[in-house]
Amino acid sequence: MKQDSQIKGAPHSSIRHDSAEKHVTGRAEYTDDLLELVGTLHACLGLSQVAHGRITAMDLSAVRAAPGVVWVMTAEDIPGENDISPNGLHDEPILAPGLVQFHGQPVFAVVAETRDKARRAAALARIDYEELPHALDPIAARDAGMGYVTAPLTLRRGDAAQGLEKSPNRIGARMTVGGQDHFYLEGQIAMAIPAEDEDVVIHVSTQHPTEVQHMVAHALGTAANAVVVNVRRMGGGFGGKETQMNLFACVAAIAAKKLGRAVKLRPDRDDDMTATGKRHDFVIDYDLGFDDNGKILAVRGDFYARCGFSSDLSGPVTDRALFHADNAYFYPDVELHSHPMKTNTVSNTAFRGFGGPQGVIAAERFVEEIAYALGRDPLEIRKANLYENGQLTPYHQEVEDQILPRIFAELEESADYHARRRAVLDWNARGSTIRKGIALTPVKFGISFTATWFNQAGALVHIYNDGSIHLNHGGTEMGQGLNTKVAQVVAEALGVSIDRIKITKTTTEKVPNTSATAASSGTDLNGMAALDACQQLVQRLTAFAAQEKGVPPELVEIGETVQIGDERISFQDFVRTAYLARIQLSAAGFYKTPKIHWNRETGRGRPFYYYAYGAACSEVSVDTLTGEYVIERADVIHDVGRSLNPALDKGQVEGAFVQGAGWLTSEELWWDDKGRLRTHAPSTYKIPLASDRPKIFNVRLADWSINREATIKRSKAVGEPPFMLGISVFEALGHAVASFDDYRTCPRLDAPATPERVLTAIERLRR
Ligand code: MTE
Ligand code: MOS
Repeated sequence: MKQDSQIKGAPHSSIRHDSAEKHVTGRAEYTDDLLELVGTLHACLGLSQVAHGRITAMDLSAVRAAPGVVWVMTAEDIPGENDISPNGLHDEPILAPGLVQFHGQPVFAVVAETRDKARRAAALARIDYEELPHALDPIAARDAGMGYVTAPLTLRRGDAAQGLEKSPNRIGARMTVGGQDHFYLEGQIAMAIPAEDEDVVIHVSTQHPTEVQHMVAHALGTAANAVVVNVRRMGGGFGGKETQMNLFACVAAIAAKKLGRAVKLRPDRDDDMTATGKRHDFVIDYDLGFDDNGKILAVRGDFYARCGFSSDLSGPVTDRALFHADNAYFYPDVELHSHPMKTNTVSNTAFRGFGGPQGVIAAERFVEEIAYALGRDPLEIRKANLYENGQLTPYHQEVEDQILPRIFAELEESADYHARRRAVLDWNARGSTIRKGIALTPVKFGISFTATWFNQAGALVHIYNDGSIHLNHGGTEMGQGLNTKVAQVVAEALGVSIDRIKITKTTTEKVPNTSATAASSGTDLNGMAALDACQQLVQRLTAFAAQEKGVPPELVEIGETVQIGDERISFQDFVRTAYLARIQLSAAGFYKTPKIHWNRETGRGRPFYYYAYGAACSEVSVDTLTGEYVIERADVIHDVGRSLNPALDKGQVEGAFVQGAGWLTSEELWWDDKGRLRTHAPSTYKIPLASDRPKIFNVRLADWSINREATIKRSKAVGEPPFMLGISVFEALGHAVASFDDYRTCPRLDAPATPERVLTAIERLRR
């Protein structure tokens, strides 16, 4: 094996994203940039205008007669199954078949010569509804008896009722946590190209090509082998393209097969935000018992989620909320219930953290409650309750890799937490209109899909006989740098420069039966699969060289310069020789995550291969006349094990922090009482700007950390865990607000803590 440092782009080096230059110069090709075939048509969705109702009449004659319209498609035109539910529950139609279950549900699609003509025509539909009662939020849905979209989960360890009863201190309250739009910069898009017989080729912005393949096959009534799905890259997915692109791909594919022409469907931002699912908002009722030292004794929690009209991924999302309702803390007696409520809203879906953040923020609320009740620094409460190795989570997985004490110690020092907290308290004591707040919060995030079978991956590595290398794996690139990291693994495994390696689009033709690129496990899974393929190639080439030259295999080393005994030969020449000797220069690799298992019925198992840890310390200042605030400074230490690429990982941590802070501050989804989403464009929905990032932002990787499990190069997943570091901003805002009552009352901010909410909380404490 070569020394890492000898190989250009080897793991652990900070090489840049393979598309970095193309991203910043605008030359990176997205689905909409692909050359359109002659005769390409454009589709537009027609969305429902009521939250719940039966369609009594649908007059689409004006739509059909509009200029440039080629076809109008309704539920009856779907040749196969009118369903895109990803979980076999058959509860999510592509186009509403008579019953509309949310405001903005797709009812029909127009196909026209241009996108503009399709959009203008769609507006001409006349649809009559018999309106039915609707429930929009999870509590209204519970009260209306709407029921669950999927089976709820209970996690239980010890006896929470008894634990609460015996606790010297008890607090019960409710917390409301808002959802979040993904706001990927590249919106949803699909382009379908009909081919011979049943076949169709689809270019689509998706995290889950295999699922698109199956959904399209079902919708067309064909087999999976008739459908090819391609994705070169996404302009962001964040979970919003794990299932949500199925709608667009199916409509485009059905129209393309019907009309024999390529069909492209790219909704505008308003339709995209209206018709696709978001992060689940939650209402959390909790009951907390603790001792006088701030040790948590017992927790009971009910987690009501707004799931929308169908199940989609709500089962695993609400499960993950429970899995993370302990965040980093040991609860001696605990009972947690998920309530995946059916509501008359768009079906909510995956979003970075996959329900985990909504659980973590509950745990941080518990800490705050205790700290304010006892008049203590919340950091002391956090430290008093951190897991110790050997303790069990509420799902009975043993914590074995706890490193938060060291992360805390380092961060307290590098962020100068204690002195700055004193300064904040002094400042606030002067009663200025600008108040300050500071908080240091941890994250512990479980890595693996909780559906165990998803934890598998494949890869395909070709060495062409000129020595260039073509790499494919089942993962998709959405900006996170997955392709770069996998190429780094391949470079080292074959001992060659990363410049030899080309990664091309993800396609169902090359690697079949893939999982979504999700749960942060893209590199863990696909990196390992690629390594497996490379090891096969190295073994084969080594055996060939040894036999050819009559030397023992130990004296062969494959690399830029291939060493065979005393002989040295360039990689190109060696590969050429191997080719002429008819050695197979291509290999398929496979990986499945070991050790994990999970029994949902008993609520026990080891759903996670390992945990990723981190902590952030944020300081904010709040204008108490307006409720507006700025993040003055944030310091982060985050654990990625042995980083495959520190530059890319730091980028992920920074982006996740800002996105997490956005979720809890400015990003507010608002439905009116008709169930219509009124925040469906950047004019009304505010994501963080570059100017909203912390003024001072110190991000460090825990460079001493190493994954104790045998992951790819001992690295850890990074995509989602740092999202929850944004919670430190939220807690710091609470701290600033609490100053109005001399920190005697838990501010109980609901999320998002928009300036309006912050101001209301201040007014509440002032009175
Ligand atoms: N980073 C960028 N730039 N764009 C994205 O869409 N998605 C996040 C995270 N980081 C995302 C991102 C989410 S939700 C996940 S699950 C992971 O990336 C997926 O990629 P990975 O498994 O390769 O980390
Ligand atoms: Mo990420 S929410 O698992 O796509």
